[in-house]
Amino acid sequence: MKKIAILPGDGIGPEIVAEAVKVLECLRADGLDIEMNEAPVGGAGYEASGKPLPDDTLALAKEADAILLGAVGGYQWESLDISVRPEKGLLGLRSELELFSNLRPAILYKQLADASTLKPEVVAGLDIMIVRELTGGIYFGQPRGVRTLDNGERQGFNTLVYSESEIERIGRSAFDIAMKRGKKICSVDKANVLECTELWRDVMEHVAKDYPEVALSHMYVDNAAMQLVRAPKQFDVMVTTNMFGDILSDCAAMLTGSIGMLPSASLDANGKGMYEPIHGSAPDIAGQNVANPLATILSVAMMLRYSLNESAMADRIEKAVESVLDQGLRTADIYSDGMQKVSTSEMGDAVVSAL
Ligand code: IPM
Ligand code: MG
Repeated sequence: MKKIAILPGDGIGPEIVAEAVKVLECLRADGLDIEMNEAPVGGAGYEASGKPLPDDTLALAKEADAILLGAVGGYQWESLDISVRPEKGLLGLRSELELFSNLRPAILYKQLADASTLKPEVVAGLDIMIVRELTGGIYFGQPRGVRTLDNGERQGFNTLVYSESEIERIGRSAFDIAMKRGKKICSVDKANVLECTELWRDVMEHVAKDYPEVALSHMYVDNAAMQLVRAPKQFDVMVTTNMFGDILSDCAAMLTGSIGMLPSASLDANGKGMYEPIHGSAPDIAGQNVANPLATILSVAMMLRYSLNESAMADRIEKAVESVLDQGLRTADIYSDGMQKVSTSEMGDAVVSAL
């Protein structure tokens, strides 16, 4: 029996996770041997215990084989001290569980070619995997804070830091994935300005020696952002730092029509993982039953593939999602003329019937 921790979080999190849980229940009825336990995180964790990552939630996540997370954050917690803001719950899970390898696929479903703001010929057939380092870099570097200088002026500071071993492990993770895909990898850095990413480039070259079949190229992050919207199909696997990956993955998401479609996996060295949509908690539409649950449902597919060793079931989920898109069902974010607009729960139900 595999244990799955269910952490709905805030905003639209509970709504979209409920639909993903329906999918898991359906697979359980078909023989998937799982136990699910729910716990609060983010703003919900703060309300429950005064901490965005309550001790019980962390304990549940640690003993689980996989974690399904919705999203964290909301207006009502924005003025809290940064140390207890909802985002700290998510960052705490990533670092406590050492989920250093974040896989963010950007795939364009052919049914949604018109939903992208880019011309169909630029994005048709798009299939990129962004591998984002998730437990280091400027997100976690010390020292950090806001200090007051002698002249009374405040100064904010953060530290971009990567050790060789941190770069090497995310590099290997990305090269392993490249071996299973198009054997082509683009490492994104800012080696022309930042020493830290000059080292990043150097270590990637070193890792590449163990993967002679994989073609490694390097690109500065500003150019990578431009190339992603100019000619995204030149990319297969991209590997990059925590912050560059945060930014580039939102950009890649939009190529596919909606950030509401993109799942992610955050893995440790042993394949244990946390699975979540890459979009946020969208407090502006929370509680209205209009959010797109497909990114979360597709995150369940990634969970089955990467942590539960059930790739046939993962394929079934992905086919079911294609089938509801073929039927013309669309949540508001991917709606276009002539399609049938459905709610969050109707979309979840449709995926379950397609399964
Ligand atoms: C993401 C999010 C998070 C991040 C936030 C919510 C802390 O934007 O998963 O991309 O910056 O990593
Ligand atoms: Mg982000």
